[in-house]
Amino acid sequence: MKGIVFTEFLEMVEQEFGLEVLDQIINESDLSSGGVYTAVGTYDFIEMQRLIVKLSEKTGLSANDLLYAYGKTFFAVLEKNHANIFSLYDGPLEMLASIENHIHVEVRKLYPGAELPTFRVIQQDDNFLEMMYYSDRSMYMFAKALMVQTFDHFLENSRIELEKVQDDGTQVRFRIYKEPHAVN
Ligand code: HEM
Repeated sequence: MKGIVFTEFLEMVEQEFGLEVLDQIINESDLSSGGVYTAVGTYDFIEMQRLIVKLSEKTGLSANDLLYAYGKTFFAVLEKNHANIFSLYDGPLEMLASIENHIHVEVRKLYPGAELPTFRVIQQDDNFLEMMYYSDRSMYMFAKALMVQTFDHFLENSRIELEKVQDDGTQVRFRIYKEPHAVN
């Protein structure tokens, strides 16, 4: 996993839960890196897993809720650092359908060693996208947050259903609906 995912995560922990919790989770997670990450480095995913489990213990929030919250924060980092990629797309469904064949292809060039999920488009029309998510890291709630924020970026509303195809979350079916704007 790339260092930027760790540095931004630790930043979120400090912002949301404070320096004390940040120090505690770093010290108690038995990290080979010692909790020192550079944005361009590559680190073992197990370190992220341990940090999330510890943070979950400290805060009483579930690992999935923490991953969802983190996805929302991380999206802002992507928007800021990769505005050129966003500008290639006219709408959220078009962008989400292109993660596998375009976006993450570019990401592999920009972030050597990145560990990315696989997305497979099953069905697509103007207002609907069905996609399968595959990843050993089971970060499907992180994925959901990035999807919700993609709609937000284009000022569109979404409804997103997910269905675990494997209980451990390594295969998840997403049904993504573009919803009309509320009329008031
Ligand atoms: C400009 C847009 C994007 C960029 C630059 C980008 C880049 C990245 C990077 C750098 C990582 C971390 C890789 C690692 O730590 O080794 C990542 C992971 C991930 N990305 Fe993207 N991404 C983008 C858009 C999206 C979108 C829209 C989704 C929507 C679902 C998405 C889904 C994911 C997921 C779920 C992961 C976590 C890894 C996993 O599940 O195995 N990405 N992405």
